[in-house]
Amino acid sequence: MIELRNFVKNIRPYKPGKPIEEVIKELGLSGEVLKLASNENPLGASPQAIKAMSERIGDSYLYPDDNCYYLKQRLSEKSGIPVTNVIVGSGSVELIELIFKAYVNPGDQVIMSEPSFIMYKIACQIFGGERIAIPLKNHQHDIATMTQKINNKTKIIIVDNPINPTGTIIRKEEMDHFVDTVPANVILVIDEAYHEYIKKTEYPHGLDYLKKHENILVLHTFSKIYGLAGLRVGYGFSSEEIIGAMMKVRLPFNVNRIGQIAAGAALGDTDFVRSSMENNDAGKAFLYREFERLGLSYTPTFGNFVLVDFKREAKEVFEAVQKKGVILRTVYEYGLPTSLRITIGSQVQNERLVRTLQEII
Ligand SMILES: Cc1ncc(COP(=O)(O)O)c(C=O)c1O
Repeated sequence: MIELRNFVKNIRPYKPGKPIEEVIKELGLSGEVLKLASNENPLGASPQAIKAMSERIGDSYLYPDDNCYYLKQRLSEKSGIPVTNVIVGSGSVELIELIFKAYVNPGDQVIMSEPSFIMYKIACQIFGGERIAIPLKNHQHDIATMTQKINNKTKIIIVDNPINPTGTIIRKEEMDHFVDTVPANVILVIDEAYHEYIKKTEYPHGLDYLKKHENILVLHTFSKIYGLAGLRVGYGFSSEEIIGAMMKVRLPFNVNRIGQIAAGAALGDTDFVRSSMENNDAGKAFLYREFERLGLSYTPTFGNFVLVDFKREAKEVFEAVQKKGVILRTVYEYGLPTSLRITIGSQVQNERLVRTLQEII
């Protein structure tokens, strides 16, 4: 056997939600399979994005614009952040990788919650960072303990807001204090993959802190509310210094041509974003009611998914619903063996989910 780099030896690869095609093949299912496992948009892709892509699909023989010029312009106009402070990646996962790639030397410490989005741990392992994992407190980031752990070896603190998989948020007051406490030589990554679903005033938008804090990187994505997960487009905002460092270590043409076109069009698709948000709000209220009726315990969420605790080995529930053509997400690798993470679907999908759960519990 050829020896791996030491850092790579202990990595457990990222396990995505099971693709529909795989489940159909594995279980020989004939009816329609419903996937509520990857927090995709149940309304599909933004219609404006689909239109723009269809018109330009023939350009696929050309390399993409390496600098994502038009998309960055649009992101800058929409956010009010100068274009030099914007970066686009092949999904926000690429941007997570790039910030580690640019800054983490072996032995540097990276503070993160346990559990939080699993890619933080994997990126840290790839680059030999020392992971300082702080357990969640009541399913929320324990910001006080995270800040206590900062020392002269700390390079990055990374938080998802809301947290995948619990759906809870850091509130505004707490974030105000947090950003002031993190020293200027430590990068604070605020991953807001689900921020568009949140209207509440208590939610602190990372962009509001950028002017005062050059060490903050805010991550957003087109995979969720814009419904473009399959195209892999994510974006980030930070100081010119941090954006420049990340640009240095990315591969050329990292964002595909069709993805750039679709993302630019999706940004203007306010009707679709509104319907996606309304669907999510209505679906959330429906699922809360139904979970309560079924006696299931759940964590109130700010995202497009809900963590449900079945109070028994969740794998059994996962397998039983999967046999009935519904794919949910186990979270045992997140240290939550009795829970499943469930994407909020359309009304029809949510009703099917509830019927299926009712049959098996
Ligand atoms: C918190 C969080 N960050 C980032 C991502 C990755 O998103 P993308 O599709 O942009 O890579 C996810 C995906 O589920 C997520 O939950």
